[in-house]
Amino acid sequence: MNIILMGCPGAGKGTQSAKLLQTFPLHHISTGDVLRAEMASGSALGKQIAEIVNQGNLVPDELMITMLENIVKSTDKGIIFDGFPRTVAQAEALDAMMKRLQREITHVIMIDLPQEEVVNRICSRKQCKQCKAIVRVDEKNPAEKCAACGGELYTRPDDTPEKAARRLEVYRNSTLPVKTYYQNSGKYVEVNGNQTPEKVFEDIQKILEK
Ligand code: AP5
Ligand code: MG
Repeated sequence: MNIILMGCPGAGKGTQSAKLLQTFPLHHISTGDVLRAEMASGSALGKQIAEIVNQGNLVPDELMITMLENIVKSTDKGIIFDGFPRTVAQAEALDAMMKRLQREITHVIMIDLPQEEVVNRICSRKQCKQCKAIVRVDEKNPAEKCAACGGELYTRPDDTPEKAARRLEVYRNSTLPVKTYYQNSGKYVEVNGNQTPEKVFEDIQKILEK
């Protein structure tokens, strides 16, 4: 099983990936997490990447494709692709790479979320520095520490209303065409992301167990 999880910023790709990992023996590749790890390392490349990511723009395709290929080659497990491909060029490169590696994308799952929900979700998200858990922090859950491991929660620099709006614009212009790319592949399915995380996961599970 090799799954592409698509969806706008805040759709729940990371949340559903974590749930999938509890049920299926898959390897999770979040290109956002890969880039954030490079930024946190303080490398020269990380600094260049930070200038792009923190403005809500996309890292160049060539760099992303090289980074991704190295990770794909490092595992024999089925993969959850979270946040990749984000452009048609990346989708074409992924197809070519999977063919070369004699692997195949089995499911393309689009998590649909109304755009008016995006800023709200993004601006109430925190992530654990230690275990990377994604947490919704609001009046109902004013958490300061991670409930899972006690680690420090932080806000991503690209999680401001302005950057969220920019990311949404980039999504509409560059990533929505990827939906058209896969729509007639026989692998493309949409799920309603505007339900509880548990219900979204139930719907995804049904698709995977068909
Ligand atoms: P990335 O990290 O992939 O960010 P994104 O696509 O904007 O998506 P998010 O991580 O913000 O949202 P998500 O869908 O994972 O939602 P989550 O589960 O966290 O990429 C960041 C940046 O890196 C990009 O902008 C770009 O610069 C660069 N980049 C990455 N990949 C790239 C590529 N391939 N090419 C070029 N550049 C690339 O949930 C969000 C919040 O909602 C959380 O608080 C969560 O608790 C809550 N939530 C989730 N599900 C539900 C639900 N069902 N109901 C209620 N709340 C929910
Ligand atoms: Mg994410």
